[in-house]
Amino acid sequence: MNIEELVGEIEGMVARGAELSGVLERAVNVLHETNARFDWTGIYELFPDGVLRLGPFVGAPTDHVFIGVGNGVCGTAVAERRNINVPDVRERANYLACSAETRSELVVLIRSGETIHAQIDIDSHSVAAFDEKTVAAVERLAAVLARAYDALGVSEA
Ligand code: SME
Repeated sequence: MNIEELVGEIEGMVARGAELSGVLERAVNVLHETNARFDWTGIYELFPDGVLRLGPFVGAPTDHVFIGVGNGVCGTAVAERRNINVPDVRERANYLACSAETRSELVVLIRSGETIHAQIDIDSHSVAAFDEKTVAAVERLAAVLARAYDALGVSEA
């Protein structure tokens, strides 16, 4: 399955009123398989206390289960309210290492207007793994997941 097909499937799950947790899990599991360069794929959910908490993920377990807004690449994306594509994490001062092998990282916010629900975080062992086309596809997935939060979830942020 590619990301476009996944987006279609998630739209169907939202229309059927599936459980949000099941939607997020399906999205992460399939997204991870769409690209051989995705070595760790997960969702962090933003809680009202300004802390990101690890949700479903595929890949090696990480110590970073909770990340404060402003910390690391993940927390910076929330603080600056923007998606962040880091071609080489070795050049980034405030990077929180999940794996010593990680070279590039992509964080895409799952947001509805001003409300940030969560984020998709992808790590790769390859430098500059996330080209424009890949980023755009992950952004389309994030948009449909934002609709899932609006339709199926209780907004936490
Ligand atoms: N690298 C992230 C932390 C999350 S782990 O990579 C899964 C960061 O700097 O925020």
